[in-house]
Amino acid sequence: MDNQELKGRVSLVTGASRGLGKAIAIRLASLGSKVAINYVARDEEAAAVAKEIESKGGEAIVIKANVADADAVKPMIRQITDKCGRIDILVNNAGIVKDSLLLRMPDEAWDDVINTNLRGAYLCTKFAMRSMMENSWGRIINISSLAGLLGNAGQANYSAAKGGLIAFTKAVAREAGARNITSNVICPGFITTDMTDKLPQEAKSMILSRIALKRFGTPQDVAELVAFLASERAGYITGQVICIDGGVV
Ligand code: NAI
Repeated sequence: MDNQELKGRVSLVTGASRGLGKAIAIRLASLGSKVAINYVARDEEAAAVAKEIESKGGEAIVIKANVADADAVKPMIRQITDKCGRIDILVNNAGIVKDSLLLRMPDEAWDDVINTNLRGAYLCTKFAMRSMMENSWGRIINISSLAGLLGNAGQANYSAAKGGLIAFTKAVAREAGARNITSNVICPGFITTDMTDKLPQEAKSMILSRIALKRFGTPQDVAELVAFLASERAGYITGQVICIDGGVV
């Protein structure tokens, strides 16, 4: 059995029905945290994540809510604090891509990506932070991307949202630090999930050639880093941008 270093903690992981969010939710639960699994579309997938957690002796609740919608986020946070008493750990993971070269980008593709990936993190952080402040303990962990540091052609919307998330993380670190709340941002490289499965083989081979460790990342690789940042052991790390990319050189 894993150590239970997150026993008594309550976590909210957004976009946790699959991919990175699913692996993060399962890892936090394995360390003893109660986990709220947020998702927006696929009820069965989210329920299956909760079932997997419960089958291993963990505790999970499932909450459908669009993170970009304040009228959905507020009740989601209330539901978690009513049921679990608090929120200690927030992982802003929900994200989408709507790729297009800038000159051809539909305005909705810009708005949708900024709204889900950046406004979503803003809303969840704003409403979840109150509980952390009351308890003088909190961990905010945002999932950005290498695109947020480097910019990707065909992803001006995504790169802008993820870059914004990095600056947001640092601002929150400054605002919340005095209350013992840390705020850090993770920039994964290429991680094998539904989001990246869609890429053409040629693009995948090109990316692989630039990765020092010569393999794509797994959701579990990222979940391990989140688990560390969520733990007591990471209590003096805040405002940091941490890349997990197998060495993109
Ligand atoms: P995915 O597409 O497999 O899963 C995304 C999750 O977000 C799903 O659970 C979906 O329901 C949820 N979601 C989407 N819009 C939502 C909304 N409005 N409200 C609530 N939930 C919503 O994606 P993946 O690959 O697991 O990515 C997770 C995060 O990691 C994203 O923020 C992504 O940008 C980031 N990332 C992923 C990388 C990769 O290589 N897979 C690389 C760098 C960053």
